[in-house]
Amino acid sequence: MILVTGGAGFIGSNFILDCLRVCDEPIVNLDALTYAGNMDNLSAIAGDDRHIFVHGDICDAPLVARLLEIHRPRAIVHFAAESHVDRSILGPAEFLRTNVQGTFTLLDAARTFYNALSVEEKAAFRFLHVSTDEVYGTLASDDAPFREETPYAPNSPYSASKAASDHFVRAYYHTFGLPTITTNCSNNYGPYQFPEKLIPLMILNALQGKSLPVYGDGRQVRDWLYVSDHCSGIRKAMEAGTPGETYNIGGLNEKKNIEIVQAVCTLLDELRPSADGPYARLISFVQDRPGHDRRYAINPSKIMRELGWEPQETFETGIRKTIQWYLSNSNWVKGVTSGEYQNWVQKNYVRRGGAER
Ligand code: NAD
Ligand code: TYD
Repeated sequence: MILVTGGAGFIGSNFILDCLRVCDEPIVNLDALTYAGNMDNLSAIAGDDRHIFVHGDICDAPLVARLLEIHRPRAIVHFAAESHVDRSILGPAEFLRTNVQGTFTLLDAARTFYNALSVEEKAAFRFLHVSTDEVYGTLASDDAPFREETPYAPNSPYSASKAASDHFVRAYYHTFGLPTITTNCSNNYGPYQFPEKLIPLMILNALQGKSLPVYGDGRQVRDWLYVSDHCSGIRKAMEAGTPGETYNIGGLNEKKNIEIVQAVCTLLDELRPSADGPYARLISFVQDRPGHDRRYAINPSKIMRELGWEPQETFETGIRKTIQWYLSNSNWVKGVTSGEYQNWVQKNYVRRGGAER
């Protein structure tokens, strides 16, 4: 039994679907179903006894303790978080609550649970904390990519909250001996990603003939990884990683944002051409994000060397799969783009200028 938190979100749902495809080990999924949590992500396993969904908050200590006692997992895989930088700029408090207080609550419950395990159960138990490369801050164009030893220098409320959670995870290993492992991954993309993030936002705006809002000069660099490759890295770290260690996960795919948007446009021109002409006509440069990190890049050699992980998708294969998925899943898209999503678009883009038409 594995306890997953945030398993109705983008990466968590991909992780659960991938796990249950290859293995029958049951999964308890604790998710608060915030705007980012979506049971439609898990419709492929609706009614599957191997998946037990619990609608609840990771900050609810008695609930977390009860779930651990009842289900007695051999591992916790912790995805639940507020995950969007722009939202952390417009409303940072929720990031402190979920990402810091929530991670602390889980760690503390896990410590109590772990202390009462047998010697064999203790040897097998893992707390896998899913984190981000953004904790390392920003790189200049000629800096070497982030390594596990790179000092933390978070710049956004999101990355600051993730950095704080990473430090608590580290402290629970060093002080209490809880067998924790942290993974720090680069930007993910793929099926089920909520369209507040760059790639799905651009795909869906383009299909609706809306403008494609590129922040600033569009020359910021991110290191993109297809989501199932992140999930396989997490599984490797959970099964074979060393307690107390951290592993950087990245796909060696550095791209400027404008290159990403152009790639999306070119593929859509091929797969769903518009009568109005090439999608790139919709690109619009809008007001930049405050404190916008210029470049992220991951050196993944530790997880490749020590755990034998390697990504299966190149950016070219992954982005094609992703676009095809969004084109084939219009009901899912309809579900996530109504209601709260429209409020977010108003709040984040109208003030930037040039984003809506
Ligand atoms: P997401 O925003 O799509 O999903 C987050 C999930 O957590 C949602 O299902 C939400 O309902 C749930 N949640 C939020 N607050 C909760 C709470 N208090 N209690 C229980 N559940 C709660 O996020 P994602 O993109 O899937 O990211 C998952 C994890 O991976 C996060 O920890 C994020 O920091 C990390 N990460 C993401 C990326 C990326 O590119 N998306 C890259 C590296 C690391
Ligand atoms: P995002 O997907 O929000 O991920 P992160 O901020 O965690 O890297 O953004 C990826 C990059 O794309 C980032 O440099 C900001 C930029 N961006 C835009 O240019 N326009 C947009 O509408 C969005 C959402 C992001």
